[in-house]
Amino acid sequence: MIKTQNKIFYICGKNYTYAMYVNDMGFLQHAYYGKKINHNDLLLYINEVCKKLEPLKEDLNLDFSLDSMPSEFGCFFNHGDYHEPSVIIEQLDGATMCRYRYFSHEVKDEVIDIAELPHARGCGQTLSITLKDDFSDMEIVLNYTVFDDCDVIVRNAEIKNVGHTAIVIKKAFSFCLDLPKAEYKLLRLHGRWAGERIPEITPIGHAVTKLQSIRGQSSHQMNPFAAILKDDCGEDVGECYGAQLIYSGNFAITAEIDYNDRLRIQGGINECHFEWELDPQVNFVTPQVALCYSATGIGQLSREYADFIRGHIVNSQYVYKKRPIVVNNWEATYFDFDNERLFSIIDEAAKLGIDTFVLDDGWFGKRNSDATSLGDWFVNNEKLNGGLKALTDRCKNNGLNFGIWFEPEAISEYSDLYRVHPDWAIGKEGVEPARWRNQLVLDFTRKDVVDYIFNAVSKILKDNEISYVKWDFNRNISEFYSRRLTNQGGFAHRYILGVYYLAEKLTKEFPDVFFEGCAGGGGRFDTGMLYYFPQIWTSDNTDAIERMKIQWGTSMCYPLSSMSCHVSACPNHQTGRVTPIELRGTIASLGATGYELDLTKLSDLEKLSVKQQIANYKKIDELILKGDLFRLSDPFYGDFCEMIVSKDKRKAYFVYATRNERSKNVIRLKGLDASKLYTVNDNMTFSGHALMCVGLPLPVMDKNMCLSLTICEKISKSTDGARYEF
Ligand code: GLA
Repeated sequence: MIKTQNKIFYICGKNYTYAMYVNDMGFLQHAYYGKKINHNDLLLYINEVCKKLEPLKEDLNLDFSLDSMPSEFGCFFNHGDYHEPSVIIEQLDGATMCRYRYFSHEVKDEVIDIAELPHARGCGQTLSITLKDDFSDMEIVLNYTVFDDCDVIVRNAEIKNVGHTAIVIKKAFSFCLDLPKAEYKLLRLHGRWAGERIPEITPIGHAVTKLQSIRGQSSHQMNPFAAILKDDCGEDVGECYGAQLIYSGNFAITAEIDYNDRLRIQGGINECHFEWELDPQVNFVTPQVALCYSATGIGQLSREYADFIRGHIVNSQYVYKKRPIVVNNWEATYFDFDNERLFSIIDEAAKLGIDTFVLDDGWFGKRNSDATSLGDWFVNNEKLNGGLKALTDRCKNNGLNFGIWFEPEAISEYSDLYRVHPDWAIGKEGVEPARWRNQLVLDFTRKDVVDYIFNAVSKILKDNEISYVKWDFNRNISEFYSRRLTNQGGFAHRYILGVYYLAEKLTKEFPDVFFEGCAGGGGRFDTGMLYYFPQIWTSDNTDAIERMKIQWGTSMCYPLSSMSCHVSACPNHQTGRVTPIELRGTIASLGATGYELDLTKLSDLEKLSVKQQIANYKKIDELILKGDLFRLSDPFYGDFCEMIVSKDKRKAYFVYATRNERSKNVIRLKGLDASKLYTVNDNMTFSGHALMCVGLPLPVMDKNMCLSLTICEKISKSTDGARYEF
């Protein structure tokens, strides 16, 4: 709900209030972000502040500094706001001075539809406040969208050139938030290839702390998410604020404690490799950020983000649809396969209850290693006798669907495409490019290049019975240079716009194909990609012990259903670790589950276990898609324990995995209804109150063992006629 009165703006969500006001001098000031507070109480408070503590209109040309005022958008270049600026706009003569003051506002009962960028959708209400520069023909519109069903505010900024001369945008963040003095800590998700989204919490000092990627993608190394934890905020207690960019390219989020001990957090497109020429009468729209507030710890923040992503980001056609249980041949065969080898996996998959076979890298051009053929999206008939049809037929005869891998943004120098169009690769003639994984990157700033790839991928999807696509991208960008662009400062953002353009076009053209995102594992695991692809391959690391940590970290701000999780071979190919198949299956059940190994090499006992895992998964997949996650024990410090509870609190799925020998534990559950009676695995009955206060006693367990339990509300025969069926 949004209320505006005398240039005081009051935004009220499910459990929070956000407020701003225009002061006497015309500057938009931040007033409050936190627990829900009554509109009249806040009005009274703001009026008092405005009247007694703030400079007045007459002071505008006198002695005052914006530095000490809590701003909604930071502009460095006039009246001395010396924080990191949110925006830098340069006039033709190089002048950057500006003074943005309130001009107008409007409220609409809808979300903002940004054609070229992923954005929040569904029902919402939007407040747009226009600020105008005193010295130029520039306007900045700050948008705030609020939803009834989650504690998220979506913000972004639009920069409008309403004049007659071009200007240059040198920095364009999406949001800026000033918070009052307190003890703040910063939670970020850092990582590396095969070790993504590791949570790290540190105090914030008196300097600018910058989380960023300049790799052309949101990156394995730093996720475009930050949480500000106040005082002693923990998993279930205390206040915290999240900022999650709905963007997949170069980003920055900065946190800065100033000399008044106040905190400014802001973020958006990274200014490194960024410079945007804005012609007269043209707007520049910045990516959206999803801000979230929780008064009850990080756990609640995660659940609000999960609800927001499911309710307002992921394509509603797929968000709650049962996910295909796949077998992917990558770790089973790598590049070394032919029809017979794949047929045997398909036949076995059908026997075990798997429903989709995904053919990974190596099916096209002359690709028998990573050195060739990216860009040549036609079937290697020498390798696959009978083409894809032989495989799709085999799947069909076994009752399986068929999925396929592409890497649309990449090009190999050893490819027909490169021989004809060497200039389609990014980089400058005469400058040696980096050849990570033996590949170059296609110039996705060019529409003709993207359209070519669209046609090539479309042909494969049209000519074959394909229900699933895995879209990969296996390297970082190092040459931010297109041979076509005159201003290379636009490259990085235009590149990601090209990716979004193709993702939009393909998903629209093939609405019945299910798309999974991937970038060398989880190198582009962000809300921008989730707008197009309902799930993302979480990491190339499939080791169950490492996956506990990666999935735990990812769950800080993404729903379980967005994580693609597979059971792989033993010993694990990334770590060499030996773990029981039960542990691998249980950890992989905490997401969109699947298999990534040669099923034909499993023993009979292991096959039985896989069958059982699939049958069990089918009983809990609704919870994975729709439930609330509660994190119980952190695998970075000890055993791993999570549970997922249905919204109506009638069912839950509990997973415990040990990291220590002879583990014996009683673990307090969370998220249940204290007043309900629950049965645990159908043989013990406890009250929700006891399970949450006293805890669930667990058996003695050895290292790498796991326990997965179903918890259901027990309904007495007298009241309901029957027990609740899981
Ligand atoms: C990336 C992906 C893997 C696999 C390979 C194929 O590393 O993350 O799952 O698809 O590419 O080359």
